[in-house]
Amino acid sequence: MSCALQCKIGPSILNSDLSDLFGESRRLLDAGADYLHLDVMDGHFVPNLTFGHPVVKCLRPKLPNVFFDMHMMVAKPEQWVSPMSDAGADQFTFHIETTQEPASLCRKIRESGMKVGVGIKPGTPVSSVMEWVDQDMVDMVLIMTVEPGFGGQSFMENMMGKVSELRSKYPSLDIEVDGGVGPATIHHCAQAGANMIVSGTAVVNAQDPAAVIKQLRDAVNKQL
Ligand code: DX5
Ligand code: ZN
Repeated sequence: MSCALQCKIGPSILNSDLSDLFGESRRLLDAGADYLHLDVMDGHFVPNLTFGHPVVKCLRPKLPNVFFDMHMMVAKPEQWVSPMSDAGADQFTFHIETTQEPASLCRKIRESGMKVGVGIKPGTPVSSVMEWVDQDMVDMVLIMTVEPGFGGQSFMENMMGKVSELRSKYPSLDIEVDGGVGPATIHHCAQAGANMIVSGTAVVNAQDPAAVIKQLRDAVNKQL
């Protein structure tokens, strides 16, 4: 089936050697990654800490043309929109669980020049984001397939109903899956209709990351 959607593979660098973020990013891009999925954690929304906009700001000039997909696992996303935009982020994905004002947050992100992503945790229903997708305020929906906070967890296959529900309603929406996605689980995501594939440990720890990325891409392209 031919469609306007493109399959994109975005490795998560969370479990890579963060002392060499640029080198690891380069390695994954050379292996065929389409974009980088950068996990920001604040120790409040999730029980873990990573990095923030100062790191993004340092990485941007070294990778001027790479799409930076910011996965904002933070309690107060509003606070980080301008700093992330100034640092050179391309897409800002907040979690619907973190805000009472999704509409104004979506507007703020778009006005700052970034794409708007909305993420939902495994326990959050997909209906929680429909209103904003219907109003064309959202560029991408992120379906978490693990509890956010850590790499290397097991894929939750029972999240695929959310992906297929969204895909049947919105044929051209970017739908991203994140958590436990790799060669052993990609067929579930592809069949359900995800087109943006985050893969952390499966790609980062692979002997041959290019082969894994190709495998993920082929599985999704077969369904698009
Ligand atoms: C988890 C992060 C993910 C994580 C994915 O909270 O949002 O991006 O790094 O890693 P894997 O693919 O190992 O589950
Ligand atoms: Zn993530």
